[in-house]
Amino acid sequence: MAERRYCKVTFGPEAATVDVRPGTTLLEAARRAHAPVRTRCGGVAGCLMCKVAVPPEQAAALSAPTPAERLKLGPLLEAGMRLSCQARILSDVHVEVPEDPLKAAVRKQLERQQSDELW
Ligand code: FES
Repeated sequence: MAERRYCKVTFGPEAATVDVRPGTTLLEAARRAHAPVRTRCGGVAGCLMCKVAVPPEQAAALSAPTPAERLKLGPLLEAGMRLSCQARILSDVHVEVPEDPLKAAVRKQLERQQSDELW
């Protein structure tokens, strides 16, 4: 059987998609797909900003968590979160990018204002 040369990676909810070689990190794939995965540490498991949600049925498509990832994520790892800078792609995979906390706060405020009778 021929070795797979590319894996299809999809980042929800925008469905940004890219084909990458196996072994590529999710963070690198996100950059290529222009998916909004944030980072501050440059990919050394230091900032925890690159978290993505991996559905249980997709977990086998990624490498096992690194010791640094286990240490940093703790119980979030069991809840399906992964650090995109540490998780390497093994096969086709779909992950969800959480909403940026600042954008979420602004969206909630706007929703509150729209439902407020004073406005
Ligand atoms: S990029 Fe900082 S923890 Fe992954």
